[in-house]
Amino acid sequence: TAIPLLVFAGSTREHSWNRKLAGAVTAMASAEGAQVTRLELADFDVPLYNADLEAKGTPRDVIRLKEIFHAHPAWIICSPEYNGSYTALLKNTIDWVSSPVKGDPVWGSGTKAFAGKVVGLLSTSPGALGGVRSLSHLTPLLLNLQAWVAPKQFAMPKATEAFDPDGRISNDAQRTAVHGVIDQVLWAARRFSA
Ligand code: FNR
Repeated sequence: TAIPLLVFAGSTREHSWNRKLAGAVTAMASAEGAQVTRLELADFDVPLYNADLEAKGTPRDVIRLKEIFHAHPAWIICSPEYNGSYTALLKNTIDWVSSPVKGDPVWGSGTKAFAGKVVGLLSTSPGALGGVRSLSHLTPLLLNLQAWVAPKQFAMPKATEAFDPDGRISNDAQRTAVHGVIDQVLWAARRFSA
């Protein structure tokens, strides 16, 4: 059976390289038979986390995000790197989604949306390191939420030269590396669901 795979980028920028990478991953994983949901964080109205806001009621779009994350046993995150780490957008999303909804029978426990998920990490950046430091920060964050983070990760350097006009990853070695992460995520998700 097809694994439901959630693919999203930690950027909402119109011409984001990581959104472009998420698009390439969507095509590649779909071709491998995964049932891919391409999530755009820009479609969700999520304020900057503040417990006072939350006390007035978890925003509707945060609940929507929790439902989407929970419905997918496997995720692939395409992470930009800001100042040697991942983006505030990604942190804010994870903080909201991981926060318990007080008194809610489904979302009363914060780890539910994350625990036991198989998560693959990719990054890209115009720079020579491809955003690899964002991945080294995201890994322990996700492990702390009881996700299973795929050991195979890939940071794709020189994003400005990495895609062909159709949005495919043009370099064979880079495409193979991205494939390796997708394959490991789908493999682990199948093992977890067995
Ligand atoms: C960056 N950028 C960047 N790139 C990188 O490889 N390492 C870094 O530490 C940083 N730091 C950084 C800080 C801030 C505040 C910004 C705005 C940018 C550049 C970054 O990789 C570039 O803007 C990417 O295009 C962002 O990803 P998206 O939006 O294209 O997916």
